[in-house]
Amino acid sequence: MVYQIYPRSFAAEGVGGEAGVGTLEGVRRHLDHLVWLGVDALWLSPFFRSPMADFGYDVSDHCDVDPIFGTLADFDRLLADAHDRGLRVLIDWVANHTSDRHPWFVDSRSSRQSAHRRWYLWRDPSPGGGPPNNWRAAFGQDVPAWTLDPATGQYYLHLFLPEQPDVDWSHRPLVEAMHDVLRFWLDRGVDGFRADAIHAIGKDPALADEPETLVGQPRSSTNDHPSTHELLREVRTLVDSYPDQRVMVGEVYLLETAKVAPYYGEGDELHLAFNFPPLYTPWEATAWRTRLEEVERHFVEVDAWPTWVLGNHDNPRPRTRYDSEARARAAAFLLLGLQGTPFLYAGDELGLEDAVIAPEQAVDPGGRDGCRAPIPWDASPDHGWARPPWLPWPPQAETRNVEVQRRDAGSILHLYRRLLAARRASPALSLGGSTILDHAPEGVLAWARDTPQDQRVVAVNFTGAARALSPGEGWAVEVSSDGHGEGEPWTGQLGADQAVVLRP
Ligand code: GLC
Repeated sequence: MVYQIYPRSFAAEGVGGEAGVGTLEGVRRHLDHLVWLGVDALWLSPFFRSPMADFGYDVSDHCDVDPIFGTLADFDRLLADAHDRGLRVLIDWVANHTSDRHPWFVDSRSSRQSAHRRWYLWRDPSPGGGPPNNWRAAFGQDVPAWTLDPATGQYYLHLFLPEQPDVDWSHRPLVEAMHDVLRFWLDRGVDGFRADAIHAIGKDPALADEPETLVGQPRSSTNDHPSTHELLREVRTLVDSYPDQRVMVGEVYLLETAKVAPYYGEGDELHLAFNFPPLYTPWEATAWRTRLEEVERHFVEVDAWPTWVLGNHDNPRPRTRYDSEARARAAAFLLLGLQGTPFLYAGDELGLEDAVIAPEQAVDPGGRDGCRAPIPWDASPDHGWARPPWLPWPPQAETRNVEVQRRDAGSILHLYRRLLAARRASPALSLGGSTILDHAPEGVLAWARDTPQDQRVVAVNFTGAARALSPGEGWAVEVSSDGHGEGEPWTGQLGADQAVVLRP
């Protein structure tokens, strides 16, 4: 299981914490808690030098730590201490764009003849004036993906903010520079990367208009150019040339599972890719069944190991989307109970809800502040933070915090811990295939996990009423979402909104 840390919001300790922003030292001081929880690996969202127009996803120096998060020495200490505890560390690699203050872009925009001009995508205005094509940027309604630079009279492409110009991956020196970024961190000892918006790096050389059916959609969710695959094969070769199984996990933000799977290549592109359709699926058994069948068909059948994501720094938290703690608990069985590698967003294990953000508190141009609220560590008024944090607390932080939930064996935090322990101890749960059980009643999704020597059944009741479930004789409850009946024989009754892991 990979645990995603959004460093700004995790823990503000050591130098740097003054800004009310979390630090790398803050992460380091909480590693023992993550080991207690049962985490295998961390993914740290960007902590690189950045003007923070997109809170770190606008990188101005890929090979240094922004002073608000600490120093490179802090990173090295964090990495060493994580490794001492058997935790692997993945970092974010923002490959599709840089900050507009990155020295590459500063030089690129300085003149049409500059050495870095070709590192970005500059084009003349369209014949009638205006942007070169109809592509739309992410964030905001119907914003062109192009900004005119009056000094040189050309537009530059940005699939995200104007402060995030896209780099040109068809230009070899840029490719080499991006490979050097990977080497810098691999040489430092990181175990891998989460590659930001990686499906977007290869661009149609003609930069043709978006077709009629997709007009108005952000290009960042449709860009799917074949040239990306060759670029990823090179990246894969580079990463695999290092010892100890380094890993490349790609954010492939194409919202159809069938379009994500090709980014695994023939086992020679990404090691893992995020598959977002489940995250956007309503709390409904038949809709979820369809998602599981798609993963089986498009991933498992071509030997692509699936991933599961129910929360991250870009989307409302599961507790907010599914509208109750009982469902947030049941959702943990989908995240941790299916075949594949789960990615758990820090705070979802506490059942945190999104913070309520008043208009004057909003800071993110993409409207994502709610899920980025700081982690409350204890019940004190400052919840373990030395300074007021950069965003408001999530609801009920007096009780919904790490300290209070660690003391309460009935908390959702302990449920996550029991599920992770069960996963670790069971080959079927960690490595086995998932087979949907056809006899489950309406509103219930149940599946078997199997290896030759080990079996489990996992069931989730998506309804607010009790349902009968009889997977056969001889099953006992290993983990239950409400804690009831664990260690006892299975009664055959799933409670409202309940989920269980059954063992023989
Ligand atoms: C990815 C990140 C998101 C960021 C965007 C641009 O989607 O997850 O937070 O804003 O890329 O880098």
